[in-house]
Amino acid sequence: MTHAIFEAAQRLAAQTTGWRREIHRNAELSFEEHRTSAFVRRILDEHGIPYREVAGTGVLARIDGRRADPKHPVVLRADMDALPIAEATGLPFACPDGAMHACGHDLHTAALLGALVLLQEQRSRFDGTVLGLFQPGEELWPGGASVVLKEGAFDGMEPRAFVGGHVSPELKVGQIGLHGGTFMASTDEVLISVHGRGGHGGLPHLLNDPVLATSAMIVAMQQIVSRNNYAFTPSVLSFGRVIADGATNVIPDRVEVEGTFRTMDETWRKEAHRRIGEVAEQTVAAYGCRAEVRIQVGYPCVQNDERLTALARETVCDTFGAGALAEIPRRMTAEDFGFYSVRYPSLFFRWGVESEAPLHNGAFVADERALPYGVAMLAAMAFKLLAG
Ligand code: NI
Repeated sequence: MTHAIFEAAQRLAAQTTGWRREIHRNAELSFEEHRTSAFVRRILDEHGIPYREVAGTGVLARIDGRRADPKHPVVLRADMDALPIAEATGLPFACPDGAMHACGHDLHTAALLGALVLLQEQRSRFDGTVLGLFQPGEELWPGGASVVLKEGAFDGMEPRAFVGGHVSPELKVGQIGLHGGTFMASTDEVLISVHGRGGHGGLPHLLNDPVLATSAMIVAMQQIVSRNNYAFTPSVLSFGRVIADGATNVIPDRVEVEGTFRTMDETWRKEAHRRIGEVAEQTVAAYGCRAEVRIQVGYPCVQNDERLTALARETVCDTFGAGALAEIPRRMTAEDFGFYSVRYPSLFFRWGVESEAPLHNGAFVADERALPYGVAMLAAMAFKLLAG
């Protein structure tokens, strides 16, 4: 039955491609998705789909099937924000102003619009209620998902499922990637200031060198992952920003260090935060320096419900054929979809757009032939959950 949904999604391809290009050209940064939000609302209006606004620029659309069941909705979710990257694709619909849909959220938004249009047309063929969540601010702390939940958008409801997807440059067009259980990592930002006593580089015996203390601290902290972490728990601590703004002969008073901590275990996550503080403070103390450690707690892990993952496998095979199904490994990247997944039964899948350039790169070009697959996967999951 869901194979017909793929055919309908293919008939809609010219339209969804047009929407995707319009959204791409008008890329907007996190929590500033005003034109994108207005565009989404316009398309929903054109198709008679009711909605309300949520989390600032977000939009929550609602489609009732034969018997409305707003207490137990299926929620289909797309993110809408772009990144502060200068686009280098040369596409005729490239965004001119320094924002770029380099993470495919333009395709996510267009695919959800397409899925809602299909479900609206076929609402006499399923029971219950589908909500379409166009979410702002996935790329920026604290994550639009946390804002949506804090507003209580789903309070009083017991959603049957949250379903979301993300484009994947590594998968071929037509492939849907699935992984049951913990799929993506939690992410926290580690911000450390190391204070010492700077001065002349030729007279270090008079100083407490924060550059040397920071070097020792970074090396010592890697041992948290290798010594304190259980070997089978994925865990990464990476520092990408180290600022010691002295000169060849000037040792600065202070060094700023920023990094990311990611894992897939909530108990270890809290313990690791404690150890990061301890190791940082005590290591630099040995050099007569002082560390101020701040951990900005970010997104939780993305957990794929095993029952929903099994249903998704069945959906892929019924809708596109068994050849479309790709079993993919866990990832140490993060997604604010994790906030939904730790609260409600959830499924996060990936759909192939085969790009040579990776995500978050100015040369990222998604293959638009993938759109009907994204549209159909979202709509077909709703059908599977509501039409039995
Ligand atoms: Ni993304």
